[in-house]
Amino acid sequence: MTKPTLLLMSGSLREASYNKMLLREAAAAYGDANVIEADLDLPLYDGDVEDRGIPEKVTTLIKQVRGADALVIGAPEYNKGISGVLKNALDWLSRVKPWPTQDKPAVVMSAAGGRSGGETAHFMTLSILTQLQVNVVHGPLILIAAAQNEFDENGALTNDFLKGQVADRMARLRGMIG
Ligand SMILES: Cc1cc2nc3c(=O)[nH]c(=O)nc-3n(C[C@H](O)[C@H](O)[C@H](O)COP(=O)(O)O)c2cc1C
Repeated sequence: MTKPTLLLMSGSLREASYNKMLLREAAAAYGDANVIEADLDLPLYDGDVEDRGIPEKVTTLIKQVRGADALVIGAPEYNKGISGVLKNALDWLSRVKPWPTQDKPAVVMSAAGGRSGGETAHFMTLSILTQLQVNVVHGPLILIAAAQNEFDENGALTNDFLKGQVADRMARLRGMIG
């Protein structure tokens, strides 16, 4: 059997992003898979740019989404909302037909500095994914609050409850696509 491909989509671009750490933890918990980290550092969606031709980096993302067996999405929270980076990527993905995201299995999780773990951004992301007909593996929300205290120096989660939540969700994803 061929290995499934997981596409990690972090709504934070920064190198030391807790959402990136969380997505890597999720990919490791999944087990044997090809793991691709999407580059969401895309041009801002602009209809005039689109009319001139979809930018190369967006085309790459579209191909990666089409080729992935599942998306694993990290949704940081900025000012009680979804990050511009993630929203912009999802907006671009909605501009080609058939939608690359249609019926695509996905898991969503959030790491944030605040005490609510990015819950508002998480729900905003779920709402957009509904519109894009993504097949989200639902469950108790995976929200890493005060994320700066939850990862060790290797970028791994330290809290057993949170680790278990991530592992359970990825096991359910495996059951769906494996
Ligand atoms: C512009 C901005 C707005 C933020 N707003 C929130 C917020 O509304 N809620 C929250 O929990 N954290 C907020 N934070 C803190 C982020 O959750 C924190 O920087 C987190 O580490 C970002 O995710 P990352 O580590 O993946 O980059 C904000 C950070 C920035 C830069």
